[in-house]
Amino acid sequence: MAVPLLLALCLFLPPVSASLSLNPADLLLWDGVSLFSRGDWYEARDRLLGALRSLREVRGAKLRCAAQCGLRGARLEEAVLERAECLGACERLELGEPSRYRLTQETERSFHKATPYNYLQIIHYKLEELNEAAAAAFTFYLRNPHHEQIKDDVQRYRTMKGVSKQSFRDLEEPHHMVLYSRAVSLLSEGKLSNGVWRLEESLALYLSALEECRSLCEGTREQENEEHRDISEVIAEYYIQVLQCKQRCVLEGSLGQKRSRENIIISHLALLEEGYTKLEKWEAAAQITQSLLLFYPHNETILGRLSEYERTLQGRSSTKPRESIAAYVSQSLLEKKLLYYAMENLGISFQDPDLWTPEEIIPESLRETVRLEREAEEQRGADLPYEEVTVTMTPKQMNGTMRVTMDGVISKEECEALLGLAQEAAGSGEGFKDRRSPHTPHERIQSLGVRQALQMASSGSVNSSQAQLFYQTSERARVLAEVYFGTESLHFSYTHLVCRTAIEGKQEGRTDVSQPVHTDNCVLDTEEKKCWREPPAYIHRDFSGLLYLNEDFQGGNLFFTEMDGTTITAELHPSCGRLVLFSSGGENAHGVRAVTGGKQCAIELWFTKSAEHAEQTSSQSKALVRDRDEPQESTEGETTRNRRVSGRSGRETVAAGDATSSDPERPSGRTHQKRAARKFTDEL
Ligand SMILES: *[C@@H]1O[C@H](CO)[C@@H](O)[C@H](O)[C@H]1NC(C)=O
Ligand SMILES: *[C@@H]1O[C@H](CO)[C@@H](O)[C@H](O)[C@H]1NC(C)=O
Ligand SMILES: *[C@@H]1O[C@H](CO)[C@@H](O)[C@H](O)[C@H]1NC(C)=O
Repeated sequence: MAVPLLLALCLFLPPVSASLSLNPADLLLWDGVSLFSRGDWYEARDRLLGALRSLREVRGAKLRCAAQCGLRGARLEEAVLERAECLGACERLELGEPSRYRLTQETERSFHKATPYNYLQIIHYKLEELNEAAAAAFTFYLRNPHHEQIKDDVQRYRTMKGVSKQSFRDLEEPHHMVLYSRAVSLLSEGKLSNGVWRLEESLALYLSALEECRSLCEGTREQENEEHRDISEVIAEYYIQVLQCKQRCVLEGSLGQKRSRENIIISHLALLEEGYTKLEKWEAAAQITQSLLLFYPHNETILGRLSEYERTLQGRSSTKPRESIAAYVSQSLLEKKLLYYAMENLGISFQDPDLWTPEEIIPESLRETVRLEREAEEQRGADLPYEEVTVTMTPKQMNGTMRVTMDGVISKEECEALLGLAQEAAGSGEGFKDRRSPHTPHERIQSLGVRQALQMASSGSVNSSQAQLFYQTSERARVLAEVYFGTESLHFSYTHLVCRTAIEGKQEGRTDVSQPVHTDNCVLDTEEKKCWREPPAYIHRDFSGLLYLNEDFQGGNLFFTEMDGTTITAELHPSCGRLVLFSSGGENAHGVRAVTGGKQCAIELWFTKSAEHAEQTSSQSKALVRDRDEPQESTEGETTRNRRVSGRSGRETVAAGDATSSDPERPSGRTHQKRAARKFTDEL
């Protein structure tokens, strides 16, 4: 993080006023941050709001200039030079010297992640502007859903008096999304004409936002070391960058829909078609269907619907696709063709953001690669929040559904530390009793729950940083399950660290398994090939996870079977940092092969969607972990986390502006956690 560094620069600017010329967004931002850290809330608020405004205005000016300076001129060279001259003059007039408002990558990233809103939420809170605070927090949260602190903060605002429900809104929501959501609810209430009309409005707005985004792609480009190169090489490279940027625009402005990767135009068209059919406006429906066919020209279902509408119309009119959409599709296809050409012949990389791209335009030599990438992408669902983690086996590769393997979830050192914890717990005599495996006489089994580990740490019988690592690691697995399966909040149902040891001298001719085939939330009936989600199964469990800590043992493979309990569909060997996640139902019946030599250790986790069934200890464990002063698992901690101030104990981590940490309503949730932790300690 370069924030502290930039803090040192401390740029002081005159107060912003609309009539003055525009102050550059980055100066305002970093100035605001520095005022924030000094607790100058009013000034900091003005600077940060000013930064957001400045950003919008620069964008607006650039758009106006781009629209004003079209490509004219008889020859290409002439046209390009003229446009360059026109743009330069126009932007200078509107904004001043280009270097003034050009953002560094660092600043651009901050704006992209909506960082100013994280500062603003605290500032508004300090100024007792609770509704504004909630809105700013919510806006930041939407763009940083894995940021632990902001999750807690939003939760706190929800329970605060004086914060209205309407405050939880996205301050940066594109207007078309507002209209789209409104249209969807109107349609679901059966208000057809009104809903369709809003949808049309929203589609028009989206198309123009898309055009704006695309036109901004022709801005400045990152400069690399320029060697002596051929002019066409340089032009091609720049042109390719512009095309890639334009293609990526479909990913912008679609927060709610990002995950499904459904093209926004297509979602609009599908709803419009439905609306017009219900309204029996066949001509309009046919026109929409024609537009939809631009994306999927060979789809039999859509073609069938079109001929129905045309039959109803009895040739009274001939319909064509919407012009605006036809123009967009043909332009986008042209860009894709060029990019695939460059991919094949110039070795550039191009990740097609669209799922509708027809196979014909992909060069034959690339089809297989592109298909595999697309499949992996579809399966991956969402970007994983931890850089080191990769999906190594998709559900398809594991021959099933709702099952996935990820590697790199924890490092070698972390595996070692957790194995150390198991060792220590076993030696302490408190928990982790060594017992015969309930499944086989050839193995011993030991297990240690999270809460138990934290308790032992607080009484000093195990290493406390290792116990905390245990908790943080489970939390990491929980977040990964949430993200990968795209589900609402998951809670811990139960978590423990388990080691299975082969008993020496008792391994000859073993035919048993370490754990027989079973399912985690239903009673498996292998004869009927059904699974009954009823007691005595743990019916509230929704997802299961196994995080392996080592690989130096014999046997111990995990395998999945069909519901007959015998047909094996997938099998895999554990390794340090490998996490297998799967839904807990009959579709993921599984077992563990005999451990025939050495000791296998893993963290076993079960998650539930139901808050009532959340492991009682989990929030308390969290509190206990938080309350210790060790640094947290690093999140994208922007404001409150990354500045340390020496507190009473000399080790306390507090937010910079947190002069009033006794403030009971401070939205960080810290005080609340402390209280929970105290209760927890009392219980011991
Ligand atoms: C055709 O489009 C419909 C939606 O209109 C979709 O449900 C279906 O999966 C598509 N078929 C194919 C083969 O892509
Ligand atoms: C506790 O565990 C950590 C991580 O494994 C290790 O670095 C540290 O030295 C241990 N502390 C003690 C007191 O053993
Ligand atoms: C999935 O099935 C294929 C073919 O039967 C097999 O080769 C592959 O190993 C299986 N995948 C796993 C993870 O076991």
